[in-house]
Amino acid sequence: MLRVAVLISGGGSNLQSLIDYSRSNSDAGYEITSVIADRPAGGLEKAEKAGIPAHLLDRKKGMESLADDIHRLIYGQVDYIVLAGFLSILDSLFIEKWNKRIINIHPALLPDFGGRGMYGMNVHRAVLASGAKESGCTVHYVDNGIDTGEIINQMSLEIDQNWSAEQLQKEVLKLEHILLPQTLQLLCDRGSET
Ligand code: GAR
Repeated sequence: MLRVAVLISGGGSNLQSLIDYSRSNSDAGYEITSVIADRPAGGLEKAEKAGIPAHLLDRKKGMESLADDIHRLIYGQVDYIVLAGFLSILDSLFIEKWNKRIINIHPALLPDFGGRGMYGMNVHRAVLASGAKESGCTVHYVDNGIDTGEIINQMSLEIDQNWSAEQLQKEVLKLEHILLPQTLQLLCDRGSET
């Protein structure tokens, strides 16, 4: 059973989908053992409600210090890190230490609509402004760039041209809640084959 730390900055609906999947599937290959937020985040309450140790860190101490604090909390305790709406940039040393063991969910079809400033509603606004016919979500490994790591899995949807950015966000989020647990399970299955 893989032990997973989930890093969040917001409401934690993706965190909830990971918890729900792991608890309602008897063959789930992972369990969430730790939730870490870089700011007071609604998702911390979801973790507490589920009985998962939850930690609030101070991102204002700087990127290196934040990464050190995270590493200290989870070293030897977890196998994978999932960034589920985590908005701080992790420092490169931390990413090297956890190479191929950090995944991120992004609310668009990378490599499009990624990079600095592309998070949350900014992404959906940019997608609509571009006139794109489809959007979706991507789970990828985290490397030293922003949203540039190897893509593991994607789901897409057709955009209704009458949708607002909020409606697009809502529809993409539904896909995220399927894609993220499925992808984590896929990595567990791959790991158990080697
Ligand atoms: C999700 O849509 C996630 O894809 C996005 O933040 C939201 C978090 O929602 N992440 C990014 O934009 C990262 N670039 P949640 O807190 O309800 O899971």
